[in-house]
Amino acid sequence: MKGVIVKCLADMVTEKFGKNKWEDSLEKAGIPRTTFFLTTQDVDDALTMKVIASACEVLKITTEQAAAAFGDYWVNDFAVKVYKPFYSGLTSAKEFLLNLDKVHVITTQTIPNAHPPRFDYEWKDPKTLIMTYKSPRGLIEFFIGLAHGVGKHFHEELKITKLSSDKVEIIFS
Ligand code: HEM
Repeated sequence: MKGVIVKCLADMVTEKFGKNKWEDSLEKAGIPRTTFFLTTQDVDDALTMKVIASACEVLKITTEQAAAAFGDYWVNDFAVKVYKPFYSGLTSAKEFLLNLDKVHVITTQTIPNAHPPRFDYEWKDPKTLIMTYKSPRGLIEFFIGLAHGVGKHFHEELKITKLSSDKVEIIFS
């Protein structure tokens, strides 16, 4: 997975919980405390997952809590700076979410053999969107945390319900 994900996790854990906790997470994952991830490098999926799991252990939080904290930080602190152009001209959570499939293809173009998550969209009614998350990585909780982050960014009350391991219902206000 693109290194930007672990880099964002590093920034979030360091900023919210302290540098020591981040270094403890790296150590728990079996890698040097000084490891630095470049946003553009390809980080082995297994290592990315291990670092996420280790951070949860060190911080004594559940995957859901980590996903919520990461989703908020990614959308509202990190990507808003690092991927600013993807926010420009979009004025609602709906527009932002409908653009996501394209965003993931574009942002992983430089990664050899990239496998970005892909998204399908199906409208149940004019206010209710069913999004299918297509990825073998099984990070649906992160998908949900990120979608909540999008709602916060646009100051919208989104009702987000997990329907299955790959489907989420989003009701717009
Ligand atoms: C401007 C906003 C965003 C950008 C630039 C972005 C970009 C990326 C990139 C580059 C990756 C790594 C993919 C790879 O290496 O295969 C990724 C992963 C991921 N993104 Fe986004 N993303 C954004 C917002 C979102 C939002 C709002 C959601 C969900 C609602 C989302 C869901 C995910 C998930 C679940 C992953 C983990 C990888 C996987 O499950 O396969 N992203 N994103």
